[in-house]
Amino acid sequence: MSYNDYLPLWDEKKVQKFRSGSRRCSWIPVAIAMSVLLNVIFILGPSKAAPSTMPPAPSLTALDNYQHLNSQPIVNAAFMSTTPPVNSDENKIVTSLYTDAFAPGVAALGHTLNKVNSSAGRLLLYLPEKISSRALCIATSTGFVAYPIKRIPPPYEGVHPHFLDQYSKLTLWSLDSLSVQSLVYLDADTLVHRNFDELFSMPFNFAAVPDVYVDDPGFTLGFNAGMLFLRPSSTVFERMIAQIGTANYRAEDAEQSFLNHFYGSEAVRLPYAYNANLAIKRRKPDLWADLKREARIVHYTLVKPFLQGDYEEVELMEMDKNIVGQYGAWGGIYKEELDDWAQAWRETLQWHGADIAECRRSYHHS
Ligand SMILES: *[C@@H]1O[C@H](CO)[C@@H](O)[C@H](O)[C@H]1NC(C)=O
Repeated sequence: MSYNDYLPLWDEKKVQKFRSGSRRCSWIPVAIAMSVLLNVIFILGPSKAAPSTMPPAPSLTALDNYQHLNSQPIVNAAFMSTTPPVNSDENKIVTSLYTDAFAPGVAALGHTLNKVNSSAGRLLLYLPEKISSRALCIATSTGFVAYPIKRIPPPYEGVHPHFLDQYSKLTLWSLDSLSVQSLVYLDADTLVHRNFDELFSMPFNFAAVPDVYVDDPGFTLGFNAGMLFLRPSSTVFERMIAQIGTANYRAEDAEQSFLNHFYGSEAVRLPYAYNANLAIKRRKPDLWADLKREARIVHYTLVKPFLQGDYEEVELMEMDKNIVGQYGAWGGIYKEELDDWAQAWRETLQWHGADIAECRRSYHHS
């Protein structure tokens, strides 16, 4: 029904014109009949739809009970058109390198940031005593700028062996010393699928994405520390350093557990699109299928395409073979994501292969 058919009562001219029409009164019974008919349709319509036979699922979270209901994009384009552009001096994307084995991960991540035309500056935090010149050269071949930091040792016994250097991540909060206003931190086992410049327009001091586990506890309230948004503050950094050894939290999970306790109820929860953790695919495949439409950052938590064994280095030219060797992991459900990474690596070599070959020539190790 067209709204032009309605008579605007405030428009005297149209009222006059209507009154002067030849079928002056004949529309009234027609309108009443239409109104009754429409009301009948309106009242009977919904009750005719089949009532839901599905019982509510009180024991499931909305995510384990996932249904495709909403299709609105997660970012409001009209709002974004009012925000200032990203400034590569003040807004940074930061990653870290604590062991040589992750260098190809950083290189591929940098390539995917180039591909989505990311306009933020880039920093690679690394531990100079642990990282070879060769690995640093490879890791910085696609746009990250090396920034040496001091290792922050774990304040407790019992930290998971993979997380022993992870307290160094807290250095992020001290980067106001470089005039960084806001930053997005990404673990080196992430790949970027879409531009996420919108994050830099957030007013909050801290935001992250809730963590997901394949088994119990599944979807959780606590956040995963593989992707963080934060506004650095040396004051906050000093407060953290003063508290890591005295606060009460799970030592095994290192900085992630500490940060969850530090921010408590104040962390802003970001959509899973900003940390599309592979665990989601295993936990709830339907949710993963929908997430792929919006995912900005994919986090390779359950398979690491560029590692072998217990976080060991893979020879750069053996990467494809290493990836194919992982096709069967987790019942084979990550073949597509492994192939995505393999493709990013192939492109990295296409665009930056000469620089990477130079890194290998200049700094070859035994
Ligand atoms: C990135 O910029 C280039 C050059 O302006 C353009 O051709 C390309 O489509 C852009 N890519 C994306 C993902 O926006």
